[in-house]
Amino acid sequence: MSRVSRIGVLTGGGDAPGLNAVIRAVVKAGCNAGMEVIGLEDSFGGLLDDRHSRTLKPDDVTGILRLGGTILGTSNRGNPFDYPIEANGHADYSGRVVDTFHKMGMTGLVVIGGDGSLQIAHQFYLMGVPVVGVPKTIDNDIPGTDATFGFDTAAQTAAEAIDRITTTAESHDRVMVVEVMGRTCGWIATYAGIAAGADAILVPEEPYDLDAVADLVRARAARGRRYSVVVVAEGIVAPPGAGLAAPLDAFGFERLGGVAAVVATELERRTGFEARVTVLGHIQRGGTPTATDRVLGSRFGVAAADLAVTGTFGRMISLRGVDVVDVPLEVVRGVPRSVPAAILDVARALSTP
Ligand code: F6P
Repeated sequence: MSRVSRIGVLTGGGDAPGLNAVIRAVVKAGCNAGMEVIGLEDSFGGLLDDRHSRTLKPDDVTGILRLGGTILGTSNRGNPFDYPIEANGHADYSGRVVDTFHKMGMTGLVVIGGDGSLQIAHQFYLMGVPVVGVPKTIDNDIPGTDATFGFDTAAQTAAEAIDRITTTAESHDRVMVVEVMGRTCGWIATYAGIAAGADAILVPEEPYDLDAVADLVRARAARGRRYSVVVVAEGIVAPPGAGLAAPLDAFGFERLGGVAAVVATELERRTGFEARVTVLGHIQRGGTPTATDRVLGSRFGVAAADLAVTGTFGRMISLRGVDVVDVPLEVVRGVPRSVPAAILDVARALSTP
């Protein structure tokens, strides 16, 4: 195993609370081990030319632990293998990324990203770039790790929002339908919904029945609870006839959103109760990370720097139980990690009038 002396670090894909904790940890642990750390700006854009980068020393990361977002900037556009150019065309700039990486004299690259960015990182690894991946997403769905940082903060933010929505729902005798993020997995919906005592939680992991939800709303009203809160994961299959268009992003993922409006219309039609919609949207990605996400991000960052120091590449940092380990980076090509049935069972058991 060869020792490395200069590593690059970048953040890719949608941001998540805790990214700065990882950057800080990579810089501190890397510099402490005698490495130079280069911060690459705006995801792989920082490797399309060498002007979008800066040396990061421990002084440069002081005070960022508690900040949301990423000091390096990020993007979920601009996949270097399929880069958008003028007139709606696309070009393969991957060779340019590899050249820039070597030209900058880097001997290791830490990519902090979700499944899209880490799949790109894996492609670069296969092209000879020494990569360590750090899994990030509020969606908590990356295969090969028991958790990702960002999720705890997002679930907390969503739960607090649902708490607030519940009090106004009660005042106005309304059905409130709250749409949360999470793509094809219902982690945020399930955790925030359970934590905030939502009456029904609809997730992509299992089919739902709007007639049953309408029955629940009516049963609650019959018991004097003339309001209900329904949490909807953005990635559920829309009710028939909804006709929601979902454009693709640069990683080929559908841009989701809007299904709660259809659910609300259907519940209002079925129950006669006024139904209103709140789409929590990017508020779930912002704000200061929870202690849990700061600690997980810090652990992941130190582990990534350790791998780079020992010249161990093609690996992804992972949480297994309470341990931080590393797994082959190619695991990110697997199926997104769904909410286990046992947790969905709890949500169902609590969905009573
Ligand atoms: O993957 C994280 C995520 O926040 C998803 O939950 C959501 O569907 C998507 O990103 C939104 O991405 P954008 O910032 O492109 O709207």
